Amino acid sequence: MLEDFGLGTWHWAIAFALILGVFVIYEPDGDLIDVPTVKYSRYLPAFFNRVIFYSVGSQLIDEGYEKYKDTPFRILKADGDLIVLPAKYIDELRNVGPSELSSLDAQYNNVLGKYTNVLVESRLPSFTVTKRLNPAIGRLVPKLIDELQYAFDIEVPKCDKWTPINAYNMLLGLLTRATSRIICGDSICRNEKWLETVTNYTINVGITVVLLRPFPKLLRPLVAKFLPSVRKLNKQVKFVKQELFIPMINARRHEEKHNPNYQKPDDFLQWMMDAADNPRDADADFMAHNLFIIMSLAVVHTSSMLMTHMLYDLIEMPEYLEPLREEIQATLANGWTNAKQSSFISQHRMDSFMKEVQRFNPTGEVSMHRIVRRPVILTGGLVLPRGAHICFAAGPLSRDPNIISEPTPFSGLRWSTKPEIKTNSFVSIGPHNMHFGFGRQACPGRFFASVTIKAIMSRIIAEYEFKYEGKRNERPANVRIGEQIMPNMETRIVMRRREGVVA
Ligand code: HEM
Repeated sequence: MLEDFGLGTWHWAIAFALILGVFVIYEPDGDLIDVPTVKYSRYLPAFFNRVIFYSVGSQLIDEGYEKYKDTPFRILKADGDLIVLPAKYIDELRNVGPSELSSLDAQYNNVLGKYTNVLVESRLPSFTVTKRLNPAIGRLVPKLIDELQYAFDIEVPKCDKWTPINAYNMLLGLLTRATSRIICGDSICRNEKWLETVTNYTINVGITVVLLRPFPKLLRPLVAKFLPSVRKLNKQVKFVKQELFIPMINARRHEEKHNPNYQKPDDFLQWMMDAADNPRDADADFMAHNLFIIMSLAVVHTSSMLMTHMLYDLIEMPEYLEPLREEIQATLANGWTNAKQSSFISQHRMDSFMKEVQRFNPTGEVSMHRIVRRPVILTGGLVLPRGAHICFAAGPLSRDPNIISEPTPFSGLRWSTKPEIKTNSFVSIGPHNMHFGFGRQACPGRFFASVTIKAIMSRIIAEYEFKYEGKRNERPANVRIGEQIMPNMETRIVMRRREGVVA
């Protein structure tokens, strides 16, 4: 496994010794906020408590939420502190803008952007999603379905009889192909090297973050030099920028200038090019980098993980299959290939199932991460100092009976009984659902994610039967790293085409 990262035994021995040595003398700066700390053991030194956060992060956040419902608490992570705020501050902070509380800074910190080559300095991608992508979803659905049709032929085996397949890889392949067409355009979306790079980049980011986080900031540049994952990341960014996006941006600009009959493509890259209103955002290199990051970190794995959870839950709870199939048949009466945005909007059961699956399997136990840029004074007098990393306990909040009545057990159709209530929808956010963040800087891509997931899962659910490979009959446990939660990505399922059914 370690060899997969390209490190030999000696490298690992040196790295281990270095980490241990550094831990003994190093303690990251606390966030200078006087709040209680929730840690694994009060008998162990802080550096052990920080490292152990990787394996018990979710547990500690749940524990803190139960103990300090109405007051903030601190969690020790490998490279700093997380200040988890109570729900009473959500409304107060929701509209505070990025100049005071920045979500981009938090994302940059979370993924150690300096070393992983993740660049999230621009508001242009977010603006383009809100102002250009979201209003265009209706127009884009036929294109999405067209690319999915091609993607299904490639990613899903024929399945005339029970056929083994890795669930996550299949769903990731479908999603990446279809969304690449909308985001990056017709000429790149079928480029195999692009598809491989955009899905693999995030894995290298994950490896780098886990390895680098425990090191003090001063040592990170040195350690990063030796990490193969960092070298791979740099190579991947270089390939995407120099061989794909920059030539494409320049060619489009050239055409626009010199060809009077030129028809601009209708894709996310073009909308970014049109919306860029300052020299930095308009710079081809910067734009190419931003486009790559939004695809790899915002679009691709988030939706694929949710679809994988859905598939696992459907195997675990097959009683949801028939109600969903009934709805798919009714809402896609003219066939899946003729689906419209309105078809997916009418899928209230699917919408509810997605929301419930996400509630039980969010991408993280905390959300609405913000880095304080300018000190903020909260009602009651608590001061959030510059540099503090704050967040809310999204997971525990969404399971709190004071916020959601009868939060357990899982009830896949609970949100579909009254679809006219806005807060019941998958894309609706609030204290009951902070898994897309909340407030001014919440995820703008959730509307597109909702349609894409419904388009893929409608066809999977209608046309195929599925179960786990071999003797497994239990849902694989989720993978938890610190505050993050992922489905098991190795699990194999077997699939078979349902006789005579074409969605
Ligand atoms: C199931 C799929 C998705 C999940 C779970 C998800 C989750 C999130 C979360 C938790 C945030 C942080 C929000 C906050 O801190 O308040 C975020 C931000 C963001 N997401 Fe998503 N996301 C998903 C899909 C997408 C898609 C498909 C796109 C683009 C088309 C997208 C674009 C963005 C952007 C641009 C931001 C930054 C917003 C800002 O800082 O203003 N996301 N997402």
